[in-house]
This record gives sequence, structure tokens and C-alpha cells, in this order.
Amino acid sequence: MLVKDFRRLVLILGPVVVLSILSIGLWQAKSEYLLGQYNQLRGKPSSPPPEPAKPEQKNNLGSIERPNPLPPPSKWKEIFSLTTPNKTFFEIRFGDVPVFNPNILPHPTEDDTWIIMGQKWVSHEDIALGLIAYEMGCKARFTVNGEELKCIEDPEPLPIKPTTGGLCEGRWEVLNLNVGPHDARAFYGPNKPYTIYGSNSNLVCFGQWIQDFRELVPSAWKGISSEKEDTTFRHGTELRRPPPSHPIEKNYFVFWDNKNHMHAHYDIFPDRSFARLNEKDGAVGPNLALTTAKHDNKCLEKYLPFVSDLEFESIHQATNSLKLTLCNRSDRSCRLREEENTFIMTIVQHKSFYSFHSEYEPYVILFRQTAPYEVFAVSKKPLWISGRGRQEEKKRTDMLYVTSMGWKEKGMRYHGFLDDVLFLGFGVEDKRAGGIDVLAGDLVGSTDIIGLCEG
Ligand SMILES: *[C@@H]1O[C@H](CO)[C@@H](O)[C@H](O)[C@H]1NC(C)=O
Ligand SMILES: *[C@@H]1O[C@H](CO)[C@@H](O)[C@H](O)[C@H]1NC(C)=O
Repeated sequence: MLVKDFRRLVLILGPVVVLSILSIGLWQAKSEYLLGQYNQLRGKPSSPPPEPAKPEQKNNLGSIERPNPLPPPSKWKEIFSLTTPNKTFFEIRFGDVPVFNPNILPHPTEDDTWIIMGQKWVSHEDIALGLIAYEMGCKARFTVNGEELKCIEDPEPLPIKPTTGGLCEGRWEVLNLNVGPHDARAFYGPNKPYTIYGSNSNLVCFGQWIQDFRELVPSAWKGISSEKEDTTFRHGTELRRPPPSHPIEKNYFVFWDNKNHMHAHYDIFPDRSFARLNEKDGAVGPNLALTTAKHDNKCLEKYLPFVSDLEFESIHQATNSLKLTLCNRSDRSCRLREEENTFIMTIVQHKSFYSFHSEYEPYVILFRQTAPYEVFAVSKKPLWISGRGRQEEKKRTDMLYVTSMGWKEKGMRYHGFLDDVLFLGFGVEDKRAGGIDVLAGDLVGSTDIIGLCEG
């Protein structure tokens, strides 16, 4: 190495790699791979050091080819849009700004209108602007034919405050240069909407922060007085977790139990981890997952794919949570037993990274809303979002990364029924944003598609 000094190296070699890392989702296998390359540029081995095994499969750049042909389409459960002309997913457009990782919230007062938010894709020209990450937001409606959900006003960067950190070391050091939020989610809780986003941490290198979403789009919630009483998380607050923590914390979601107590859910694999959250300051209690760990792992192992190679595959949390009662709104007999028929729903993804291409397979998980919050059911097959491409010869399918889940109808917040319509929001190949509207029942409505833990 001619250049040893970190800062000079960042100036000379870094921008392209740094930018590539910061411009894509930090959860991406690609960003982890780029960090490894970056550390090699700096003359440090990427850690943990890659296994020397499988030299015949590994090309000299560090990603291997998918070992098997693509599974047949019947390995997935295809879901179709209720409204687009050809039932495939719709594009979400933020004017001319390239945006991925979309979130869709019903507008609090306007019919057939949603507030959409997503991460701005950063181009190399943006180097000059200083590597700032933005979440863009706007008011959006469907085009007449229903093929696109698009901003009806200019999208604007949401005022999520950058945080100071400086705690990144070793292979993560480059992330100290980050300014601004990453991979933000927007979602409703029982009373109001929130955002959770990744940003420079005061505890580890990169942490998860939460804020009342209304603070970011005050015009939309102006004058809705009853909701103003809930003043928790008015400012961005870092979410803590019971130990152990990791240098890069990501993909947290929160859930509310039957008593409306707020909890944070940190991990699903290889073990669940979640804790009660103090809404005043983001502090947490102990990890509550230990009580049900044996039961939960048995159930998750029964339905989720076996992760064969930790270097190229993993399972992690993807979306926020919603509360779902497993019957139609009109079904009185089921509603009488609402407490025991109501579950927390979330989506997790099986990630693989072959031939430099990430793919994600989404699975729905239901767990109980009452303590001890054990897992109740898991998708038997991953969801295939209609419109996702499949290239047989290249042994790959389009990368769709599900980021958010929300009720479509105005006025709905956290809780819904099987015959309510849901939006799933997802990134498409890290540069575009897509969504699909389906009935909650299309995801979990029968035991053909969702497997129960018991029996
Ligand atoms: C469905 O419609 C969309 C939007 O018009 C189009 O981009 C897509 O190619 C169509 N897909 C199929 C399978 O016809
Ligand atoms: C629930 O609602 C869906 C959608 O309207 C309908 O297809 C289904 O038959 C209903 N199920 C029952 C048990 O009524």
C-alpha cells in the first residue's frame, strides 16, 4: 500500500466504495462485501476472515455461483395485486428522484391518498454534496389505470436529524463518515405513526432510532387534536437493546401487545430477541425471548429454510409489525374471541448472495399478542410478488426486498382483519420502489399457506 493514512485513503480511493456502501441498504450483503473490499484496499484483512474452503467455486472476487438451479415456481406462494390491470405489483414513483425501500401510509384526512417515504438513491455526483443520506417523502395517489402510485407534489427530504456517533472501528470505521438516516420504515402504531431508521449510534457503530412520524410531515396531521396528546418520541431517540449488541444494529421492529405495551423486537434468527420498551426514553427491560426459545426455534426451523452457508445466506427481520385478527370483520363468533384470535404479524426474509446478486424470500410470521408472545404460525412457502422476474439461464430472480406493511384504508392504523387490504412496500433491485395490495387473508388466510406451530 502506498497510502497508509485512513483519511487520505478515503479521499483518494474511498469515495466510490464509501459511496457504494452508503448508497445502498446497509442490510445488503453487497454492502458487507464492499466493506470487505474496502478493508482490503486499506491493507487490512476483512474480518471475519473468509473461509478458505471451496476454492473451486469461489471466483477471485469473493462471491460464488448459486450451487443449484432455480427451484420451480411451485416452491413459492404467488400473491397478486387486487387492483392493477394485470395483477402484478405497481411502481411507486417519487417524481424524478430514484428512491427505494418504500413505505406507504394512508393519509390521515384525505381519501385515496397516501404518504409515501423511501430512501433516496445516491449517485456518484452526490459525492460533491457530502455523502448525505435522505429519506424522501410526499403525498401520493394512484394513476388512473392503477399501474403507478406517484407523488402529486414534489418529493422532499424528510427532516430526520443526522446523529453524531464516531464509534465505528476496524472494518466499520468508514461508517463514521455517514450523515443521515438509512433504511427507514414508516408504520402506524395503535395511536399514531412512527419511523424507525438506521443512523450513527451513541452506543455502538450504527444504531436504530425511532421518532413520531408526524413530526416529519406536520402539515398532514395538523389539527388532528386527539392524536396530539401522545407525545412520546417527538425527537429521534436511539432504541436500546438488552446485551449482546452488535456494531451494526438493523431491522428492529416494534410491536404492541394486548395491553398496548410497546416492545422492540431485535432478532428472529438464530434466536429471537425482544424486550419491553420504555416509551419515554427508549430504555429497555430484559430479553423476554428466552422463555419461549425452545418452542419458537422448533417452529421456525420447521418452516423456514435451513441456512446452509452462513457466509452467503441468512434470515433476518424485514418489516414493521401489524396486529391481525384471524377472521373477517363481519364474523361475529370469531370477534367474540378476539383476544385469543389476534396475533402480531411481521415479515422476515431469507437472504442469499450469489454471483454478486442478493435475493430475498419473504415469510410471514405470526406470534401471540399476549405474554409470553410465542410464535404461532409461519408461512409454509415464501411469497412470490407477482411481477418479479426470473432468469432461468442466469440462475437468478429479481431482487425484491420487502420493507414495509400497512393497511390501505384511511383511518386504519395497527389492527385489522383477514378481509382488510394491505400494502406491502419493497425495493426492486436497490434502485426502484414497488408495492402490492393484497388481502391480509391472501398472506395467512388458510393452513395451506401458513403452517401452525402446534400440530
Ligand atoms: C403488467 O403491467 C405493468 C405496467 O403496465 C408492466 O410494466 C408489466 O410488464 C406487465 N406485466 C405483465 C406480466 O404483463
Ligand atoms: C372473508 O372475506 C373474504 C374477502 O371478502 C371472502 O373471500 C371470504 O369468503 C370471507 N370468509 C368468510 C369465512 O366469510
